[in-house]
Amino acid sequence: MRPRRSRKLEARLEALLAQMTLAEKLGQLNQAHGGTPENKALVGQGRVGSLINLCPTDCPDPVAVYNSFQEAAVKGSRLGIPLIIGRDVIHGFRTMFPIPLGQAASFDPDLVCQAARVAATEAASWGINWTFAPMVDIARDPRWGRSAEGGGEDPVLASRMGAAMVRGFQGDDLGAPDSLAACAKHYVGYGAAEGGRDYNTTLIPEGYLRDVYLPPFRACVEAGAATLMSAFNDLNGVPASGNELTLRRILKKEWGFDGFVVSDWASIDEMISHGYCANRREAARAALRAGVDMEMVSPCYAEHLPDLVARGEVPLDWVDDAVRRILRIKFRLGLFDRPFIEPRPGVLLNPAHLATARRLAAACCVLLKNDGVLPLDCGVRKLAAIGPLADAPAEQMGCWTVDGLARDVVTPLAALREALAGRAEVTYAPGLPGARSTDTAGFAEAVAAARGADAVALFLGEDAGMSGEAHCRAFLDLPGAQAGLLEAVAAAGRPVVVVVMAGRALALPDVLAKSSAVLYAWHPGTMGGPALADLLLGAESPSGRLPVCLPRHVGQIPLYYAKRNTGRPARDEERGAPAGTPLDPKDFTSRYMDVEHTPLFPFGFGLTYSSFEYKELQLSSPAIGRDDALTASIRLTNTGRREAVEVVQLYVRDVAASLTRPVRELKDFQRVRLGPGESRRVEFVLRSSQLAFHGPDMKLRVEAGEFRLWIGPDAARGDSATFALTD
Ligand code: BGC
Repeated sequence: MRPRRSRKLEARLEALLAQMTLAEKLGQLNQAHGGTPENKALVGQGRVGSLINLCPTDCPDPVAVYNSFQEAAVKGSRLGIPLIIGRDVIHGFRTMFPIPLGQAASFDPDLVCQAARVAATEAASWGINWTFAPMVDIARDPRWGRSAEGGGEDPVLASRMGAAMVRGFQGDDLGAPDSLAACAKHYVGYGAAEGGRDYNTTLIPEGYLRDVYLPPFRACVEAGAATLMSAFNDLNGVPASGNELTLRRILKKEWGFDGFVVSDWASIDEMISHGYCANRREAARAALRAGVDMEMVSPCYAEHLPDLVARGEVPLDWVDDAVRRILRIKFRLGLFDRPFIEPRPGVLLNPAHLATARRLAAACCVLLKNDGVLPLDCGVRKLAAIGPLADAPAEQMGCWTVDGLARDVVTPLAALREALAGRAEVTYAPGLPGARSTDTAGFAEAVAAARGADAVALFLGEDAGMSGEAHCRAFLDLPGAQAGLLEAVAAAGRPVVVVVMAGRALALPDVLAKSSAVLYAWHPGTMGGPALADLLLGAESPSGRLPVCLPRHVGQIPLYYAKRNTGRPARDEERGAPAGTPLDPKDFTSRYMDVEHTPLFPFGFGLTYSSFEYKELQLSSPAIGRDDALTASIRLTNTGRREAVEVVQLYVRDVAASLTRPVRELKDFQRVRLGPGESRRVEFVLRSSQLAFHGPDMKLRVEAGEFRLWIGPDAARGDSATFALTD
């Protein structure tokens, strides 16, 4: 929830602002990097208001360091304004949760919120009071390494995930000692980088920006996010960190956001490279004018604002607005009243935290294929754990694990050995020394291990360094010689369960063809091993669903379910084009000659160890008025033999509108747990406002006409009905 403005707080803030010199005000706009003696001196002089990465991960006494810097601010500087201290607590602090893209696959905002709460509690015990998360950039191009950090391709899913993280990081009370200020990033459009290459240009029509890229940020603001980070990208010719339209007009004016905006790392300075500003002086003016309140690391504000203000080229009002926003968040964090912290032993890696990590890691795994080999229960006496990621603790944590330590990670090999102790033997052969390796010397040992086992669990995918910032790929297949390893192991003739660990959507048609089962585990974090053992051995049924389409081939990118239909959509009977083998098209429809037009797996897809039947779709009415809501429901039955969770998804299409609309848009979803044979009517309430889009005037509108609705298991299937919206 957005915080209500407190009159008392605003009065304290104004009283403080009235005492501040220009230098002190500009100090608040300045974020420095690291706990150096120079920075401590600047803090004492009131010239630094924030620090990023105060302590290294191996710092012996982070609480003492934190308190000493806060002391320099509170006791050393003239006005005693406390520091706000930020760090990238992206998917956990010491207890690492799955990467955010994996978390989105849980379709479970409550569990994601709990994970963020854990991360906040752990980070706050170090004196961190601000995290640079959640990242809510919509990403429809898996080549982009940072797709790992966000909530996937869909604005509704990413909004739910982002808002859940904000609630988790900030808790019920931002002023509580275990709360962190959240920072929704990277505002905005960063995920649309051309060619999936990080930092690249983005060209996004405003309506599309408002309908697809902005909603997750809006959801974070509505959830009370204290801060936002302006992005690196050039957005339609104006860098995001100098963009008055998105920052000043949309965020601050239209949405009424009263927290502050921090730049990304040197993104103000980078406006010179973009070719938007001639020098740092211009960059400082452009960023502050646009509404970037605090500068991360680069020195444009500190170097140039004093003179720009003195000469009247930057009005003092701009500075005051920024300072007010920063102080407001410092007050809301309770830093003025409680600047120092006490050590809190036993917080990091607390058993309850690890239990949450295990639950979330299990909920994130998506079962793509199962010919019946899973779960691996009673018959297996000898299991071969093979592959470069079977026992690779650092890789399993994924990207952005600033404070995660490999020594705390439980790998699948360790977890399977523990779970099967006394019941079955687990042999191990990595096959390859690393995910990118082409050294096939270990293949023979791997094949022998496969031959000697009843079943194989083969852990393939990407190492942690293949996704994240600046880690983009032009290929979406298994790196190194992993395809060869799969081929060799599969030839041993035992059932092969492939577990994919990856920081993005990979194109894996061959993996599918050569295996008995495929479980997509993303990078599952500290407790990924036990979570995978729970799933593989059947203690839990997989319940994750894809937050992105999985392509057949990189050449299909960008590929996302909420596409427009075109005037010549490809037809179902045109499916089946064999990859890499050009076929002459029979018709002139929108597809490729050498790969099918559909994804390998659609958005929302995921199997369980049970089966579900959808029937009796009912709508409360064939037509609704503008102010009404529609109730849509369906009977869901677990027709299998195991308890499992089905993620029931509601999609809508606006059949004809003044601007073409996507063929389907996710509107809502529910995780429903049913026992074998159990049946339940699952109900959604669809408000007419959920049918809105931005018209040519950039205003939200709901147009009368026909809508099609689906309730089903993914973006490509479902029972459907139509309804009308009438004036
Ligand atoms: C990244 C941000 C991150 C910041 C601080 C930048 O390079 O783009 O996501 O929060 O560094 O580490």
